[in-house]
Amino acid sequence: MEDFLIEARKLAYSETDKNDTPPVPILNLSTNKGKEIAQKLGANVDIVEAGTLLMDCALGRALKENRREEHVKMSLDLANELLIKSTINEDEKENIRRCILQHHGVDKFYSLESEICCNADCYRFISLKGFIMQARYGRDMSFEEMVELFKEKVDEKWNAISIPFVREELSPQHKIILEMLKVL
Ligand SMILES: [Fe+2]
Repeated sequence: MEDFLIEARKLAYSETDKNDTPPVPILNLSTNKGKEIAQKLGANVDIVEAGTLLMDCALGRALKENRREEHVKMSLDLANELLIKSTINEDEKENIRRCILQHHGVDKFYSLESEICCNADCYRFISLKGFIMQARYGRDMSFEEMVELFKEKVDEKWNAISIPFVREELSPQHKIILEMLKVL
């Protein structure tokens, strides 16, 4: 698994380097949060690390090509290039694929690991740290477009939270962000 993680890190950070998305601090934020939640819940930390690294690995490419809605499929395709070559077992491969596919939320998660990746992704917009990082390092767009994107993403990610202690931790920060967005 360690060999696969080395490859996954290489892929995620080289895509970020080439396409500026997701910015490194934001990628690190969700990866670290994912690992922290996985430890707390006794989930497989390596799978969650792979999932959080790879879930948006093609987002930068997708944005450049105006295909934002396709970024999940594109990220899966990129990750599959690594998974096909890897010697990790089939169950682990399938779990990593589901982490990517389900990172925006589903009614019923395939695994605890895929649920954690989705919840870790929410920190990118619903935590104050993530919110400020988005404003600081986020995509090249007008201020008005950025505020519109934030409004959409904050609602989407708040609704995607499924782990009670994550909701509890993020709830006060979510309230502050909503107050802020009202006056932007
Ligand atoms: Fe995504």
